[in-house]
Amino acid sequence: MNKKESEYFTLQKEIQELKKKRNALILAHLYQRPEVQDIADFTGDSLELSKQAAETEADVIVFCGVHFMAETAAILSPKKTVLLPEVDAGCPMADMVTAEQLRAKKKEYPDAVVVCYVNSSAEVKAESDICCTSANAVEIVRQVPADKRILFVPDKNLGHYVGLQAGREIICWEGYCNIHDRLSAGQLQKAKQAHPQALVLVHPECRPEVIALADRVFSTSGMIRFAKESDHNEFILGTESGILHKIQKSAPGKKYYMASDEMICPNMKATSLEKVKLSLEKLQTCITVPDEIRDKALNAVERMIVVI
Ligand code: 13P
Ligand code: SF4
Repeated sequence: MNKKESEYFTLQKEIQELKKKRNALILAHLYQRPEVQDIADFTGDSLELSKQAAETEADVIVFCGVHFMAETAAILSPKKTVLLPEVDAGCPMADMVTAEQLRAKKKEYPDAVVVCYVNSSAEVKAESDICCTSANAVEIVRQVPADKRILFVPDKNLGHYVGLQAGREIICWEGYCNIHDRLSAGQLQKAKQAHPQALVLVHPECRPEVIALADRVFSTSGMIRFAKESDHNEFILGTESGILHKIQKSAPGKKYYMASDEMICPNMKATSLEKVKLSLEKLQTCITVPDEIRDKALNAVERMIVVI
């Protein structure tokens, strides 16, 4: 064991002890650092983590992810203590729409159904009719009555993809994930030329021209399930690099190539083992949502959980 591994081992042991003492559940998104994913009780995509947060009997939920994820857990489980180990871990895309801006847009389209990507604030969820994640967005949009217009916030790329899949016209907000949106069609073409045997799996937060070059489009957990079940042995992945840790464990013996080396989300990488330990020791930072916002946001989030 090298020095770093032995430091991780000690921290992981300390975290396990604190976890028992606090009756805590540790959830980690698949974009987290490998050593953080390794101490989690559960790793997954946004949808799977929300479900875990809704169902747990633990007193404390430590959310290794970004702010909107912990906030969604607090909406679903208001009696639990929800901790975000790195309080500054936000999602730039979630910050691209505010409740005030959405209220103004709703005035332009008063009859539209507002579908909001879970990557949004509690205030924005409170202004929305139904929430979705990348794993269920197509299904959610298909449930919207055909005579209704749809206003989709904040991800224009996901909104565009969902519109095509569901055969619906969608009014898209102009937001985007600066990690997925930076993958260009040229970069993906290069990766395809370098690995002509590989199947291309991309996340729906990628640009339309990138999605057009892909063989399949999945949420992060969807990619892992597909790689595991597929007869193919080589994959090019168009998503955040954190996925490599779990996909290599879940479907070993296969080859994975990142579509670009630049797909690293600094917010997702801001959580470290030291910060997880500190959060359990000091019960920090506790994420809460005011009741009046929570009640309205819960409607949108619960509708999503009931549909899927
Ligand atoms: P999923 O977890 O739905 O795959 O979304 C990815 C993401 O960007 C989360 O921040
Ligand atoms: Fe937000 Fe993109 Fe980072 Fe996910 S990967 S937290 S959508 S910036």
